[in-house]
Amino acid sequence: MEVVAEAPGKIIITGEHFVVYGGLAVVAAINLRARVEARRSNTLSIVSTNYNVGCTKGSDCHERLRPLMALLDDISRDYPGALGEYTIRSEIPSSVGLGSSASVSVALTAAALTLAGETPLDRNKVYEYAMASEREIHGRPSGIDPAITTWGGLMLYSPNRKPVRLNMSNRLEVVVCNTGVERSTREMIEKVRSFKERRPALFLSLLESSSKLSETLVRYLMESRFEKIAPIIRWHQEALRLLGVSTSEVDCAVERLNDTGLVAKLTGAGGGGCVIGFPGPHGVSPSVDRVGCCKEVFVVKLPAEGVRSWVRRG
Ligand code: PMV
Repeated sequence: MEVVAEAPGKIIITGEHFVVYGGLAVVAAINLRARVEARRSNTLSIVSTNYNVGCTKGSDCHERLRPLMALLDDISRDYPGALGEYTIRSEIPSSVGLGSSASVSVALTAAALTLAGETPLDRNKVYEYAMASEREIHGRPSGIDPAITTWGGLMLYSPNRKPVRLNMSNRLEVVVCNTGVERSTREMIEKVRSFKERRPALFLSLLESSSKLSETLVRYLMESRFEKIAPIIRWHQEALRLLGVSTSEVDCAVERLNDTGLVAKLTGAGGGGCVIGFPGPHGVSPSVDRVGCCKEVFVVKLPAEGVRSWVRRG
């Protein structure tokens, strides 16, 4: 039996970092996906075609595969039918804030449960396994990445309550600029924790404003009033800069995107990674093949659907 699972990447539109401390964040699944193919065998093995590395249970795995092997090991202890050969292919650039690690964990979990005969796919179960794996990788994540990649769509997310999935009547195109600077989410979370300890009152007031603006933003997104979102995006870039997670590369990319008529902010943990550009008040859609300070620029569409898996026949 052979199974396939796919899970989307994501962009955090507003509220990253504040969400770790209970703030509200707006996040959307995007049309870039990680794909896992699996077939039964009597031991566990993983191949990553992107990194051209593989490993078998018991051997010394490449550091990128170690948490994934641990995840499959956990699942196959609960579901012995999940033992198999897994091949990962991802369209999502890694370590730049587009949710590649959560997306791979979620697709891998979905493939493992489907291989073990657990159909229909229980998304709550997928989320629990992927979240446990994210904790190992990132230290103290809010859970936003595994939630959006599991359920897809557009979400107003807070770790303190059930994620609210929202309907958008029109899809939105967002420009993504990858600065090419890889960074560690764990280190960025640590940096913000130290800001919060040094300036607790300021941090709290930023968190409260961010949550209020996030609630306003989702209304605009749901009503397709995209021309209204510019000041909210600008406010969040300034707040993230104050927290210390913007960098000269990110600031430069934000400015270059602004020059093209977009309004831009970093997305995800910061420290490099990706910058996202939204239509400005005049709804300009620039040509985006080349923008200064960006290693690559592309357009993503949101929202996209969440994880899915199926058995491949024949
Ligand atoms: O790993 P990233 O870049 O998608 O960042 C995740 C968002 C943070 O708010 C920085 C961390 C979290 O767990 O919410």
